[in-house]
Amino acid sequence: MATTINVMQPELGEAELAAVREVFESRWIGRGPRTARFERMFAEHLGADPGQVTSTSTCTEATFIAVQLLGLGPGDEVVMPTVHFVGAANAVAASGARPVFCDVDPHTLNPSAEDVAACLTPATRAVLVLHYAGHPGDIAAIADLCRRRGLPLIEDAANAVASRVDGQACGTFGDIGVWSFDHGKIAVSVDGGMLWARDPALAERAARLAFLGMEQRSGFDQAMRVATRWWDFDVSSFSRRAVLNDVLAAIGCVQLERLGAFVRRRREVAARYDAALAEVKAVRLPPRPPAGHEHSHFLYAVQMDPSVRDRVARELYENGIYTTFRYPLLHEVAAYGSGVRLPRAEHAAAATLCLPQHQGLSDADVDSVAAALTDALATAPAL
Ligand SMILES: Cc1ncc(COP(=O)(O)O)c(C=O)c1O
Repeated sequence: MATTINVMQPELGEAELAAVREVFESRWIGRGPRTARFERMFAEHLGADPGQVTSTSTCTEATFIAVQLLGLGPGDEVVMPTVHFVGAANAVAASGARPVFCDVDPHTLNPSAEDVAACLTPATRAVLVLHYAGHPGDIAAIADLCRRRGLPLIEDAANAVASRVDGQACGTFGDIGVWSFDHGKIAVSVDGGMLWARDPALAERAARLAFLGMEQRSGFDQAMRVATRWWDFDVSSFSRRAVLNDVLAAIGCVQLERLGAFVRRRREVAARYDAALAEVKAVRLPPRPPAGHEHSHFLYAVQMDPSVRDRVARELYENGIYTTFRYPLLHEVAAYGSGVRLPRAEHAAAATLCLPQHQGLSDADVDSVAAALTDALATAPAL
């Protein structure tokens, strides 16, 4: 079998190792100055005030905190696209609120403002969208809809760490944004998340909720203050422990410095696939972002006739090429299934295949994926 080409892959090297070594040598590995630096760097990347940003152990934890910040609970409905990460629905359901799944555009796999509006009821208390593949989608129109209806908007920007619309970072269109730095994302801290809140008071509360509800930012800050009884703390709302640490944050800082280069390489990979597959009649290429939209190129998702998709995935796998489909439809998951039909999402989920897309791909890798896909589609129906 040829060398494996991963569908997702982080790029970590000497700079990250040196940063970790420096943390080990500092003898402070917990939440401390590097975590604070990671938050400041990310706030700057977003063009946000550092007081609006707090780090978390994972994006899933950030989403649980977002749901807690909005006070969602039994009787409340949260509208979200059925093409969504399961952890987002879990965060809603764990609060007692009900996820209500809307349909998506069959090509972008993002919902339009109309798709969201179609699911609003008097019980709707929030909207929770993502930016599929890193494509910003209709985020400005959805944010506008939410503002007009007085509904808080949570953006799961895990796909969209570098996506913008007219210069504004995805994740900052609504009330709360969450990001992931797990092992599969564009920039990784191995595991890690960020939460941005429009209201700095909410962001400050988020930091407390991420750290047992304690009214202090970190043990390090507390110790450095050299007050009397620096061991004291107060808890006015109890919570879990979902903080990041300095080992992971140090990696995250280096990765944020490299993020621009990562996205540039991903853009080149996407353009090379576009050119190599342009004449293949049996494949539909991913949508190009409209003017003013900046894409993170997290996924490169092509479409084909649903009758051949699984066979094509298997043939590529047998040639050492990993592909996947993100995200299996939540309205069909046992925990959330309600018998509702969402035909456009269902068609897209059967037709879409995410090809390898990461900054570690060489031009030769891209060419061999494109060639293997072209071969596998030789007898497939034209689209
Ligand atoms: C869209 C989306 N949201 C959230 C997450 C969760 O991120 P984490 O692994 O940091 O909890 C993921 C992870 O794959 C994701 O793809």
